[in-house]
Amino acid sequence: METIGLTIPGQEHLDQVWGYRQDCCGADSSMDGCGPLRFNTSPEQWLEDIRRYADPDTVPEGKVQATQFLAVRQPDGRVVGMIQVRHYFNEYLEKYAGHIGYSVRPSERRKGYAKEMLRLALGFCRQIGLERVLVSCKPDNEGSRRTILANGGVYERTVHVPGEGIDLERYWIAL
Ligand SMILES: CC(C)(COP(=O)(O)OP(=O)(O)OC[C@H]1O[C@@H](n2cnc3c(N)ncnc32)[C@H](O)[C@@H]1OP(=O)(O)O)[C@@H](O)C(=O)NCCC(=O)NCCS
Repeated sequence: METIGLTIPGQEHLDQVWGYRQDCCGADSSMDGCGPLRFNTSPEQWLEDIRRYADPDTVPEGKVQATQFLAVRQPDGRVVGMIQVRHYFNEYLEKYAGHIGYSVRPSERRKGYAKEMLRLALGFCRQIGLERVLVSCKPDNEGSRRTILANGGVYERTVHVPGEGIDLERYWIAL
């Protein structure tokens, strides 16, 4: 696996972010850890949105402060993944989605990037004062479960998400 680093997105990444969105849509893949990217109509709008979420003064009502990172491969600057850290919980996050969401570009999967992205994001979680983080995944998402387990996740329980008709396994990682 090539070295990757987590970077806060800027104007210079927008073409790649939009390409990431197209790749995920083309592969019919979920786009976890990308904020509202799936619903944005332009990359500029996405950047505005994630900046609003990053700032406690501008985070939309009912939502929580969140920091968006890109996983950038160091040798070639390619955005291989995206990961988002929610700084605290609202009711939905506390019960279901947890502190962290992530995805890896379909063409870059199974190279160890998700494990490394989560490891790096946990360092950020420590910096913002979290003592443990909740990460959840669907029971059939073996890649995500292994990513969580490789980073010290301890299974707590499985919950049903009523509005979405899915189950989620909850894991805690002590920092
Ligand atoms: C889940 C996801 C993030 C994994 O990314 P990845 O970069 O391929 O993961 P890694 O290469 O770091 O692999 C992590 C572990 O999972 C395993 N793995 C990865 N994909 C797998 C799959 N489809 N089936 C079984 N195991 C898989 C790897 O072999 C590795 O296991 P190991 O530690 O025992 O060797 C990626 O498939 C993805 O983006 N999926 C769509 C979004 C998503 O589901 N996000 C998570 C939401 S909870």
